[in-house]
Formats: sequence, structure tokens, C-alpha cells
Amino acid sequence: MVEGVETAAGQRTGATGSGSRRSRPSAGQFDSLGLYLADPRIEASVLGLLETVEVELRASVASADPLVGEAARHLMEAGGKRFRPLLVALGAQFGDPTGPQVVPAAVVMELTHLATLYHDDVMDEAAVRRGAPSANSRWTNSVAILVGDYLFARAADIAADLGTEAVRLQARTFARLVHGQIAETVGPRAGDDPVRHYLHVIAEKTGSLIATSARFGGMFGGAPAAHVDALAGYGETIGLAFQLSDDLLDISSESVQSGKTPGTDLREGVPTLPVLYALASDDADPASARLREILATGPLTDDDLHAEALGLLRESPALKRARETVRSYAEEARERLAPLPDVPARRALQSLCDFVADRTS
Ligand code: IPE
Ligand code: IPE
Ligand code: MG
Ligand code: MG
Repeated sequence: MVEGVETAAGQRTGATGSGSRRSRPSAGQFDSLGLYLADPRIEASVLGLLETVEVELRASVASADPLVGEAARHLMEAGGKRFRPLLVALGAQFGDPTGPQVVPAAVVMELTHLATLYHDDVMDEAAVRRGAPSANSRWTNSVAILVGDYLFARAADIAADLGTEAVRLQARTFARLVHGQIAETVGPRAGDDPVRHYLHVIAEKTGSLIATSARFGGMFGGAPAAHVDALAGYGETIGLAFQLSDDLLDISSESVQSGKTPGTDLREGVPTLPVLYALASDDADPASARLREILATGPLTDDDLHAEALGLLRESPALKRARETVRSYAEEARERLAPLPDVPARRALQSLCDFVADRTS
């Protein structure tokens, strides 16, 4: 199912989920993810869980300090797809989704994600996030960093109530995520294959948390161990495809669609897959040669060069090739679902593969 297509609930929308003020979750809200909730029971369960997650998220960042409270609520209330809580809620369907630890597990995942967004926007000097000013531009880098730290602390506090295993998993996930961000910052070592390096970076910085979200769903729903492992494998792979498609959207989208400023990766000199493919190509046509020439200069801070590179990339064979790579990872994610029983929740997870594959085409 693709964006803007009718859902099980009969609603039709193409909204992005980014940049809109968040109220009660509804079936339509997740249409932007192409989510297909065929069965009314899982639809009610998933939406009910996510509604409680919203309430708990807000409560979780209350602070006696008005600035900390306001800055912590800022991105939470600005929008966001709630992809990680959604995976927790769907993973829990393979066990008992009414288990008392499912909602806090989803809150831990979204808080961890949110914290990384505060830090990432400082690193990437991003001005816009979820259709709102980023925390670093609304306040300062220091406020954004410290509020990110506060969100991590809140996530750890809530994870403590879930037990040692949850705390360990969250900590290890966070460590992987940090290694990914550092590997991206440092770049490949001499002799490393840049595409391999990039795929490693995105598995660490994004696949890690999405894998743990799906794992937490199964684990705290009490699903059988083999199903929990399949969910984690699916999460890792769809997470990779999700980040790849996000990197493609940085090139091909308008900011109204993504809630972010397009072209940020090029400006910051973060080489994503289409750029790596373009640099590695030996296409002799003038557009490809000119693109290679501009990209080889590094971060594109010059507005004219930036616009030229973005225009060339949007039309390039490299972008087309990168879209095919996204599609193949989305397909692999679908295959990872094979050990799971053929129930509506599995079909919902499959629909997310279609969404990720289609959102950049
Ligand atoms: C943004 O994640 C960072 C990436 C891993 C691509 P999302 O695309 O899930 O961001 P929100 O939560 O919807 O804002
Ligand atoms: C997102 O990194 C991954 C994390 C925040 C850990 P990016 O820099 O690629 O994502 P966007 O484009 O800012 O959302
Ligand atoms: Mg970024
Ligand atoms: Mg980044």
C-alpha cells in the first residue's frame, strides 16, 4: 500500500505525519507510512497502545525547570511518524499486546530516538526538524545537547522499570547508534570501500534502534523467542532501508514533505548512497562528469554549486541505482518475516516494506 491509498478504515490521506501538531492517534495518521491494519482488532489494539504512548511520552518529560520542560516537549509536539513505537505495538501483536510493559517499552524507544534527533541536528547544523525550528536553532547548541541528554536520562529511568535485560539492550543499542554517528563523522579509513562503510554506518545509527523497537514489542508482549529474533532481524533490515530512503528523500523531496531542509547532507558533506554511486560511476555523459567534479570538492556550502549538484543528482543514474538498492533491502526485510505466523500483524509489517520501497520512487 502506498501513500494516499485508502486504508482498512476507509480513510484517504497523503499527509506526511511530520510537521503537524499531534493529537489522538487515528488510523489515518499512519497512512503516511502506508500502514495496512487489515483486522479491526489489531487496528484497535495498535491505535490504543499508541494513544497511551502519547500520554506517557508527555508525562515522561515533565520537568521542574520550565526551559527543560519546554525544550523537551518541543520536538515531541512538533510531529514525527512514531515509527519506533509503531514497531513496538506491532511486535507486541505476536504475543499479548495488553502486557503492562509494552507501552513503557515504546516510550523508551521514542525518547531514545528523540534524544538522538536533538544531538543529530547540532551535528548536522540542521535548522528545521519535524516542520519546526530545530532545538539548536530555536535555542542554542548547548540547550539542544543538554536536553538530548535529559531525554536519554528519562529513557534510562523508564527502562529501569522494565528490568535489567531492557536496560542492557537499550544501552547496547545506544552504543551502536553512537558508533554509527562517529563512523559517519570520521568517514571511511584509507582502503575502506566507501559504500560498505556507509551501509555499516546506517545499520549502526538507524538499524540498531529500529531493530530493538521490534524486539521490544515481541519481548514485552511475551512472544516466543524465535519470533522475537525474527522481529529484530526484520527491524534491522527495514531500518537500513528506512535510512537509505530517508537519504534519498534528502535529495529528491521538498521540505514540506519531509519536515526537514532538503540537501542538508550535501551541504554538510555527508556522502549518502546516491553521492557514492555518482562518484564511483564512469558514465561519460557531461551531466555525470560535471556531477562528479562538483561532488569531489567536499561539503557544498556555496549556494549555486549546491543547487547545481542537487539538480544533477535528482536526474542522475546514481539516484535511480540507489532507489533499486532501497527496494532490495525492503524486499530482504519482507523475507525476514518468514518465520512469523501469517497473521494481520505480519501483513502490517509487510505493508511497511512497500512504504519504504515506494516512498522514494
Ligand atoms: C529520522 O527518523 C532520522 C532517521 C533515522 C532517518 P524518522 O524519519 O523516524 O523521524 P521522525 O520521528 O518521523 O521525525
Ligand atoms: C539520523 O541521521 C540518525 C540519527 C539521528 C541517529 P541523519 O542525519 O541521516 O537523519 P536526518 O536526515 O537528520 O533525519
Ligand atoms: Mg541529520
Ligand atoms: Mg546526521
